[in-house]
Amino acid sequence: MPTSAPPVCLTDFVAAASALSDRHAQLADCVEAIAPLMLRLVEQAHTFLEPAHFQSSPIGYSRNLIYNAPDESLSLYSIVWLPGQWTPVHDHGSWGVVGVVEGVLEERNYVRLTPERGADAGIELARGGVILLGKGAVTSFVPNPDHIHVTGVPAERPRAVSLHLYGRTMSSFNIYDVAARTRRRIEVAHNES
Ligand SMILES: [Fe+2]
Repeated sequence: MPTSAPPVCLTDFVAAASALSDRHAQLADCVEAIAPLMLRLVEQAHTFLEPAHFQSSPIGYSRNLIYNAPDESLSLYSIVWLPGQWTPVHDHGSWGVVGVVEGVLEERNYVRLTPERGADAGIELARGGVILLGKGAVTSFVPNPDHIHVTGVPAERPRAVSLHLYGRTMSSFNIYDVAARTRRRIEVAHNES
């Protein structure tokens, strides 16, 4: 096997996740089926994560690409969160399955009170609950209704590293200005290994 080939557990995970994604038209069924695979993948993360997947930046959380499907139907990233680094309020417009490799990842949820899902203005959000995801934990989400959240690590907690599988190449997502009640699409960068 060439040294550049991905480890078997990662290859198997991607193949299985892709097959399950194709099989399940209902996205809730899709993430339900893939979540147990992510549970196993995070347990084996030390066998395939490379130094490049632990890249971090003092500027903000770092998204390190692990796999991107040729047809852009699936993507997997390791995200490194230094203390005090957070996303904006956002949704992905996609399903996702997240597993924690190191540290405690915090997710703060929002609930959209206005019913128009496609609207980009006049959006009223209420703060919802918080989820603390320790090492080995797995969470997932589906769009429609949008899963609106902030993810990160408070300044007083150590670094966290998490794996994020999405149902498309996650090169953009929707961010919200809660006070202005608006939403807009932005491009998001990542590191290639
Ligand atoms: Fe997110």
